[in-house]
Parts: sequence; structure tokens; C-alpha cells
Amino acid sequence: MEIEQWLAASRETIEQWIKEDDVVRQAKPETVEEAMRYSLLAGGKRLRPQLVMASTAYLGLPPDTFREVALAVEYIHTYSLIHDDLPAMDNDDLRRGQPTAHKAFPEAMAILSGDALLTEAFVKMSRIQNAKAEDVLSAIAYLAVAVGREGLIRGQVMDLAAEHIDLELPDLKIVHQNKTGALFRAALVIPALLSGNYSRQQALSQYGEHFGLAFQIVDDILNVVGSSELLGKNIGTDNERGKATYPRIVGLEQARHLADDHRIRAKIAIGSEPGAEILHSLIDFAVDRQW
Ligand code: IPE
Ligand code: IPE
Ligand code: MG
Ligand code: MG
Repeated sequence: MEIEQWLAASRETIEQWIKEDDVVRQAKPETVEEAMRYSLLAGGKRLRPQLVMASTAYLGLPPDTFREVALAVEYIHTYSLIHDDLPAMDNDDLRRGQPTAHKAFPEAMAILSGDALLTEAFVKMSRIQNAKAEDVLSAIAYLAVAVGREGLIRGQVMDLAAEHIDLELPDLKIVHQNKTGALFRAALVIPALLSGNYSRQQALSQYGEHFGLAFQIVDDILNVVGSSELLGKNIGTDNERGKATYPRIVGLEQARHLADDHRIRAKIAIGSEPGAEILHSLIDFAVDRQW
């Protein structure tokens, strides 16, 4: 199957899963579920759940084996965007082509919808099918560490602290690895934990490391030279806020170069074993994308 077809078909599947979720299906006006639904269905590339599916296929299982994990990573990602856009953080008013949650709803409701999405992700994780209870426990612990104070939250704290400061490249790399890379890596590694496939876990983890860095470098580049219409968010905002980014620290050309370098390293990490094709195409998409 062509990668464009795979991306479109898997995105449709993921969106269908979200729509079928009771939390979304039963959302009534003026409830926190309505705000959750708004952000979940606003659009988005669905890359993290796609990585769950691609990793699962790479492990030789049907891609929909760990549907709960696919939902959990997208819910956590969506919560992180809602909070990232808040006035106290990046103060953005456009996301996924729509007003950010705190513009569409009272700010308190936006914050609470983020809290509820994070919590709901772990409800989903506790209901994982097709895996042993002890492996489910490992997966929950892995995800919690990845998005907590030693992972995504740490990255966000560092990102905010680095505003108007010219970080050294190794420190900027740590920000990106945590705020963005940790969740990507979890999406890839968790299917290996759940299926007890430790021989492929290492390759998935290394691929995830390079994927996360390449992805965030391109996010930084697109904030400078991208199209707001295609991206569904405002551009030029990193510069306005004095964010520490790759284009700011190393320049656009070198940033592109580094994204390419991570693409190559990701491909080397995953190898060319059967089932790796989609992962090769996904890193190409992450680096070459315009949205
Ligand atoms: C945006 O992520 C936030 C970052 C971690 C850079 P995406 O670009 O994957 O956002 P959506 O899900 O497609 O909206
Ligand atoms: C977002 O990073 C990272 C998380 C939400 C954890 P950015 O702030 O750089 O991403 P955008 O550009 O707002 O999507
Ligand atoms: Mg941010
Ligand atoms: Mg932001």
C-alpha cells in the first residue's frame, strides 16, 4: 500500500475509534466532555497513534491489537496541546485550524478538559486487551514516566525557562527529547512491552529517539517558514516569544541538515526487516511534511 493511502486509512480508523469512545459519543453541551470532544476532533495528523499501529505491525501483530494504547497516546497529546496553548504557557489562539480550547471555552473548562484527557488516557491503558496483566502494568508505568516530571513535563518546564535564552545545542536537544520525543518513543515501545518482544524493543526505542528529534526540529522550522493555513496554527510565534529552537540556535540550513541526519539514524536503527517499511515512510513523512 502506498504511504499516502496508509496514512489516510489509519487516520480514518483512529478518528472512528475516538468517535466511538463513550466519552466523546455521550458528550453533552456545557460539560467537560464537550470540551474534550472539541479538541479531540479538531483535526490533527494522528501521528502518535499511527506509530502505535506501525510498531504493532512491525512486531508481527494486526495493527489494531492495542487500540487502547493508540487512544491513550492521542488523548495525552491532545491534553498537552490544550495546556501548551494556555495564556500561562505559549498563549496561542489557533490550533488544528480552530480556536484553541481556552478561546472556544472558558479557560477553566479548557484546563479541566486537559486534566480529564490525561486521566482518561490511563483509564484506557488499564483496559488494554490482548496482553498479560503484568505487561499492561509495565506499559502503564512506562507511559507515566514518559509524560511525567522526568519526561514531557520536564521538557515543558525547560522550554518555558529557556525563553529569551540562547541554549547550547546539547541542552536544546534535551528540551526536545523530553517535551516531544518522550511520548513518541512511548508510542513505539509500548507495543513491544505488551507483546513481550524485547528483541525489537531496543530498535523501536532508538528509532523513537530520532523520530522525536527530527519531528520537533521540523516543527521549529515550520514555525519560521511554514504556512499557517496548512499547519492550522500561527507561525512566527516562537520568535515572538524568544523560544529556544533549532533555527534560532543553529540557523535554518543546519536545522534542516540535522533533521535529515535523524531521519537516516532512525532508518538505520529500525533496519530493513519485514514490517519496517511503514516506519521508514513515517519518518520520511515527519521530516518532509508541510503540516
Ligand atoms: C504538535 O504536534 C506539538 C508538538 C509536539 C510539536 P503535532 O504536529 O503532531 O500536532 P497535531 O496532532 O498534528 O495537531
Ligand atoms: C509542544 O511544543 C510540546 C507539547 C505540547 C508537549 P511546541 O509548543 O513547540 O509546539 P507547537 O508549535 O505549539 O505545536
Ligand atoms: Mg510549547
Ligand atoms: Mg506551543
